[in-house]
Amino acid sequence: MRVLLISSSARGHAIADALTRSSQTPEIISVCPQANPGIKALAAQQHVTNIMDFPSVLRIAAEVKPDFAIIGPDDPIAGGLADELLKLDIPSVAPLKSLAQVESSKGFTRNLLASHAIDASPHFRIFTREQSGGDLDALRKEIHRFIEDDLHASYVVKYDALKGGKGVKVSGDHLEAVADGVEYAIECLEECGRVVIEEKLIGVEFSLLSFVSGDRVVDMPIVQDHKRAFEGDTGPNTGGMGTYTDANHSLPFLTPNDVARAKEINRLTAHALLKECGTPYRGILYGGFIAVKDGIRLIEYNARFGDPEALNILPLLESDFVAICLAIIDGTLNESLVSFAKKATVCKYITPKSYPDAKNEKGQVVTFPKDIPENARIFYGDVSQADDGTLHLGGSRTAGIVGIADTIAKAERIAEELCAKVEGPVRHRKDIGTAKLIERRIEMLRKLRE
Ligand SMILES: Nc1ncnc2c1ncn2[C@@H]1O[C@H](COP(=O)(O)OP(=O)(O)O)[C@@H](O)[C@H]1O
Ligand SMILES: [Mg+2]
Repeated sequence: MRVLLISSSARGHAIADALTRSSQTPEIISVCPQANPGIKALAAQQHVTNIMDFPSVLRIAAEVKPDFAIIGPDDPIAGGLADELLKLDIPSVAPLKSLAQVESSKGFTRNLLASHAIDASPHFRIFTREQSGGDLDALRKEIHRFIEDDLHASYVVKYDALKGGKGVKVSGDHLEAVADGVEYAIECLEECGRVVIEEKLIGVEFSLLSFVSGDRVVDMPIVQDHKRAFEGDTGPNTGGMGTYTDANHSLPFLTPNDVARAKEINRLTAHALLKECGTPYRGILYGGFIAVKDGIRLIEYNARFGDPEALNILPLLESDFVAICLAIIDGTLNESLVSFAKKATVCKYITPKSYPDAKNEKGQVVTFPKDIPENARIFYGDVSQADDGTLHLGGSRTAGIVGIADTIAKAERIAEELCAKVEGPVRHRKDIGTAKLIERRIEMLRKLRE
């Protein structure tokens, strides 16, 4: 069994770790944009190449002839790498380009939900450059009217293509007056021809990732991410500073109805995708949800594992990850193939001290504790290994440290104790997974729903 793993970073490391635990002892062929010491230790080969250079990736694939490929990040999936691999008879755990629009176009997804009567979107409208017939001034007025009258100036403007997590601007956060939203919308229109403008939802966000093979959907434990750089959810947005899951695979602020509805939305969306695109979605469908006053709404879909979400979820997987991948590919996916330990996890990201702004610490040495307890994991991200084995910081997130235990509180202590032992010019958010932060989420939703 040979698996082509097109992914670097801690997400790639967590996937490689899950593959390694399979009874089918797959040989991992890693293809990544940057050498990763964690993946390297588990892989038979590691090829460092630009993964958006498809001919180069395909050359490696043709040479190693893997049984299947797993594609980690959004860009190659959206660009159609799964389609190209399929032409070489290599199936992927990642959707084809047409289906990957569920992540790469927020407008596609809003329209998909609307046309398949899945009531999970906020009030929204899609504006296109074409509809203005070249008259941007008329469009500007129309957008102004929509934001002011229909959305009562509480709005979100979404660039309608991938933008490395930087395409969405929210009123009261990145934007203030209606005119700011209009200007950003026009900027989006000029750049990519389409923009989604929607109602700003108030609530608590969470993620539900599912394994999907056509109309077969099997869910993973629900996760909550922390995007803000600093404690108390302050500072700029980042790739994610940490995440947690609970032993019951729900989250402390969600009701059983909330969970059931999020699961239903993923199921309905998988069906809608099959109907819309005429070909099965095979991969991970990651629903970004928000629990609001009167239920659950969808913020967005991703077509892959999240980073750090994968770091929480995959260590809990008790069943054989290779068997799940093969079942996703051949359409036999079912619940009996997937089981997760009934444990809580807390993941905290170690980052350079000045992350996400400056890159002052780049190249400096970072040292991780040698003794990792059985109930903890360290997944390496943007860190490079010198010939003498020392690890050096990159500019981005360094490593995800995961604690696993019966309760969130215990998992938090395990992660925190390991984080405290990391030496170097680094930091992490001490508050992730703490009772205080979780209480705040529970309280916020309770008040909203009172
Ligand atoms: N309709 C909305 N209401 C409130 N907040 C939103 C809405 N849409 C997006 N956001 C906020 O913006 C963040 C980023 O938006 P998202 O659609 O997830 O795009 P991306 O992850 O591609 O940047 C979300 O995590 C959420 O905090
Ligand atoms: Mg998002």
